[in-house]
Amino acid sequence: MKTEILKINDKSIEKAKKILLSGGIVGMPTETVYGLAALGTDGEAVKKIYEVKGRPSDNPLIAHVHKDFPIEELVFVNNDYAFELKKLFTPGPLTMVFESKGKVCKEAVCGGDTLALRIPSHEGCQRLLKAVNAPIVAPSANLSKHTSPVTAEHVRRDLDGKIPLILDGGKCTGGIESTVLDVTGKIPRILRAGLITREMIVKAVGSCEIAEHKEGDRVRSPGVKYRHYRPNCETALADSAEEAEALYLQCVKDGKKPYIMCDGENAEKLKGYNVLNLGNTGEEIASNLYDKLLEGERVADEIIAISFNREDGVYLGIMNRLRKSCG
Ligand code: TXA
Ligand code: MG
Repeated sequence: MKTEILKINDKSIEKAKKILLSGGIVGMPTETVYGLAALGTDGEAVKKIYEVKGRPSDNPLIAHVHKDFPIEELVFVNNDYAFELKKLFTPGPLTMVFESKGKVCKEAVCGGDTLALRIPSHEGCQRLLKAVNAPIVAPSANLSKHTSPVTAEHVRRDLDGKIPLILDGGKCTGGIESTVLDVTGKIPRILRAGLITREMIVKAVGSCEIAEHKEGDRVRSPGVKYRHYRPNCETALADSAEEAEALYLQCVKDGKKPYIMCDGENAEKLKGYNVLNLGNTGEEIASNLYDKLLEGERVADEIIAISFNREDGVYLGIMNRLRKSCG
């Protein structure tokens, strides 16, 4: 199969819609990462997503809808705070897990009785969702375990020849996946940290828990238990610039080509070494993280990431990705 990359516009959206409505799957941009889309009511199409990605069959998908879609057709909204969160943070990088009404196929939710719903803010993605006017399920458009794609070209590198079309909506601005929030209980609970932070949710609705995944627990968000986000090269996670420098010099001694991935301040300290500079603010770092990992895997034998050693705000999501990709 030939994989076409088309700039997202009325014509390419029409083409993607045709493919989706006839049981195919396509790459689509969102503001967080690129998604691999299928019609949420088409079990056979959804199976293709799992096949193409090599995704474990017990890891459910997020359903995406446009901003005017009546979500109560798909889910029971049992807690009023969910309406408040929807009003404040969508369209945007917040996915809420509700009790499902069963309209999205069982293949997409792995037979479960909940549905994760997301209203992306990416303008082109909104237009595609509007054109289809039905839930589109989409995981990140990478091979399972690999780093999530933030450009159409990243999607092509993983899925070339396996899907007919990738809509190119530019580089994702968010850079890490949406926050997944369980809103079925009295208090909202973060299952996967992201750009909508615990602090933002507490400020909006008064409280917010973070799900802890202990050994032996029934996992609420199956995705978090898998090895994830790894670039195709060796990796290490250092606690400080000094430790990274020592690891770097050892790599060089061993005849390897290392790169250090760090914030702007450490990049300044490490002038003269190969560096992947993530920038300075939390938002900037999140936005560059996967892009730099995917750049790094092409040039480095080993990426040595420096930990941010903080978990406030968006750093909770960043550190979660950093540990899984490089730890
Ligand atoms: O930003 C994003 O969320 C991107 C873009 C494409 O929208 N999508 C994404 O999908 O990251 P994926 O499949 O790579 O990750 C979905 C996460 C997984 O951790 C999965 O276990 C969790 O959401 N999830 C999906 N449905 C769920 C459900 N019903 N209950 C609990 N967790 C769920
Ligand atoms: Mg993913």
